[in-house]
Amino acid sequence: MSRPVCLVTGSSSGIGAAVVGHFAAQGWDVVVNYNSGQDRAQAIAAQIRQDHGVDAFVIGADLSQRDEPFRLVDETVAHFGRLDTAVSNSGVTNYLRGEDGELIRYRFHETPPEHLDKEMARVLDLNLMGAYRFGQRCLKQMIDAATAEVESGGVATHRSLLFITSISDIAPETTRIPYGVSKSGLNHAIIGAAFEGGPHNITVNGLRPGVVDTPLTGRPSGLINETTGEEYTVADTYALMAEGGSQALPRIADPDDIAVAAWAFTHIPYMTGQLIAVDGGFTLAGGFPNRELFLQEGLKKRRDNT
Ligand SMILES: NC(=O)c1ccc[n+]([C@@H]2O[C@H](COP(=O)([O-])OP(=O)(O)OC[C@H]3O[C@@H](n4cnc5c(N)ncnc54)[C@H](OP(=O)(O)O)[C@@H]3O)[C@@H](O)[C@H]2O)c1
Repeated sequence: MSRPVCLVTGSSSGIGAAVVGHFAAQGWDVVVNYNSGQDRAQAIAAQIRQDHGVDAFVIGADLSQRDEPFRLVDETVAHFGRLDTAVSNSGVTNYLRGEDGELIRYRFHETPPEHLDKEMARVLDLNLMGAYRFGQRCLKQMIDAATAEVESGGVATHRSLLFITSISDIAPETTRIPYGVSKSGLNHAIIGAAFEGGPHNITVNGLRPGVVDTPLTGRPSGLINETTGEEYTVADTYALMAEGGSQALPRIADPDDIAVAAWAFTHIPYMTGQLIAVDGGFTLAGGFPNRELFLQEGLKKRRDNT
């Protein structure tokens, strides 16, 4: 019998790379998908084959382009003959880069109209439409496979579709409203798809990470480290706040924290249509209004410890 197959979009970096690694470690064949990171994807796949002896198949696809999500799913099924779990993970923030490569961040009410449209298009094309098309084709492939199992006298195997969305679907931040819009838009698709998948033993859920230490959060935050004079990254800034008490667990996540949750969420046969935060308690009531205080407290703790 062939091994089960997991396809993860955007698995050439960060969370996606950790998810394919985790599934491979459990004996699954995986698809490593990249957009710009072909070399990274090849290296991740080679490491997986060497460490776990499973097949790691690499497919490039720019999922912001209309037909690419469909091709990615179809090539996976053509290669492996099955698709057991699919994780829609590819995503970008809404920030555009200026001519010098610097990140442009406007507060919502100050954003010029043309920029407003461009940054919204950037996240809708990939985070929403890419994920939407990808999920639709995965669901179709899974329903076809489940129907064939039943028609040949068997029972439909449990299959799973997971969307990595974000706590930014509700957590406010004035410079990245488009990103939050793209993620909250997906929530509805997840709930609707769960109803179509259910009769075929397919579960569909949303995993909403808090702040995770990946290249996505390695961008500058605007906050200067007074000791070094350098700019903290977004990950550093949220780590400081976490240390200062902004969330229940006093650290930001690493990609493996999310990979463990992705594995768990896709293996719960009776959970579907859920949008669940894996955020160390970031979105628990009480944290939001006190960000500045938590930041100062985190900085103080760091100073006291050095
Ligand atoms: N990091 C966080 O704090 C955090 C929090 C909440 C939610 N998330 C979500 O988690 C997901 C993964 O983020 P990450 O932090 O792991 O970021 P990351 O390290 O920057 O990885 C992003 C992945 O998306 C891929 N990607 C980018 N543009 C693409 C396109 N046009 N077509 C196909 N793939 C594309 C990248 O591929 P290439 O590198 O090959 O171009 C990369 O593999 C995203 O959906 C993000 O919104 C992250």
